[in-house]
Amino acid sequence: MIEFPKDFLWGSTTAAYQVEGDNSNSDWWEWEKTKPGIASSGAACRHYQLFREDFNLAKSLGHNSHRLSLEWARIQPEPDKFSQSEIDHYIQVIDHLRSLGIEPIVTLHHFTNPLWLSKIGGWENPQAIQYFLEYAGKIVKSFSGRVKYWVTVNEPMVYTYYSYLVGEWPPQKKSPVTANKVANNLVDAHIRSYRLIHSFYKENKLSPPMVSIAQNMIAFIACQKSLRNNLAVYLRNRLFNFRLINLLYRKRCLDFIGMNYYTRHLVDTRRWSLWELLGNTCAKKHDTLPKNSLGWEIYPQGLYYLLMGLKKYRLPVFILENGICCQDDNQRWDYIREHLKKVHAAMANGVNVIGYLYWSLLDNFEWDKGFAPRFGLCAIDYSDYKRTPRDSARKLAQVASTGLLEE
Ligand code: BGC
Repeated sequence: MIEFPKDFLWGSTTAAYQVEGDNSNSDWWEWEKTKPGIASSGAACRHYQLFREDFNLAKSLGHNSHRLSLEWARIQPEPDKFSQSEIDHYIQVIDHLRSLGIEPIVTLHHFTNPLWLSKIGGWENPQAIQYFLEYAGKIVKSFSGRVKYWVTVNEPMVYTYYSYLVGEWPPQKKSPVTANKVANNLVDAHIRSYRLIHSFYKENKLSPPMVSIAQNMIAFIACQKSLRNNLAVYLRNRLFNFRLINLLYRKRCLDFIGMNYYTRHLVDTRRWSLWELLGNTCAKKHDTLPKNSLGWEIYPQGLYYLLMGLKKYRLPVFILENGICCQDDNQRWDYIREHLKKVHAAMANGVNVIGYLYWSLLDNFEWDKGFAPRFGLCAIDYSDYKRTPRDSARKLAQVASTGLLEE
């Protein structure tokens, strides 16, 4: 048996836009409507109405923590207006979690923006930082005393990559210059909101908060060892996995490292060019690893390597997302179990992992891929919104409530 510490944080993650439904004031909503072939989020999982039921379910599944995000567009529907009724809604959400003994981990930005912000250039416009700080300030003040763990921005690199570099997500730009600008603005937004949250807690004599980002990390593996492939792996690791963490660590703007981990990328460069070194993935299809229903390879070892790479920072590490979309729920449990074993191995080797959150509590709206990918511990029947916990959810519940996992 493998044993996890008694105070380990167990739970799952959701993001507002993917579960709430009817986020009609957000940029993604507008974008969905204009794109033929792209699914509409519509009522999503109706979590906005059903959050109590959902969190009661999480409680029954042994969860003692839950990561959620707030929909900025609901809270600040216009640049100079905050909606008290939406703030009150989220206070109810957090109070409900607390009443169940579930620790809330609150994300301020998870990929979507208020429509009005996108109309003035979104994150390309440095004014976005100021608006984000006003929003963060309002939230911290309204939620004071209720929240300890904050995630300012979810996966800044992923957002920048899909929205501004490869142009797949709104606003579908394909410009390295713009992408760089956006990434810098998001980093600035984190640093300044980190400081804002800390000063608020200090001024109000609250016990210090734990603030971080959620950094998506990918295991980059060379197909064949060669000077060029090894260099490509080294560069991608630095750029996509560790650059942001290094920067925020140096600026002392991380109280823990929030890590999201799903998969690996095989690296197979064919010539000396920047694109080959940084972007190209292997197309030989000679890998034999099982995959999720979106074709992402399942590679638990990668989680171990990356966790070991985080050891040098001597900060608590919190796994804020790890999950699989699949048709066969046995595959989900295998995925969770094997990743948990790697988490434990890294802990045994000195990495201070404080929690594991599965993505996601519910099947939900998987962005441009719509509702087909099923990531949930609980299945959703979209015809009547009935939630049904899967077997994997019960198996994880067993581990969460005993702290024990069979080897
Ligand atoms: C994102 C989620 C997304 C999940 C699965 C994560 O990177 O934070 O919003 O649903 O990946 O693709």
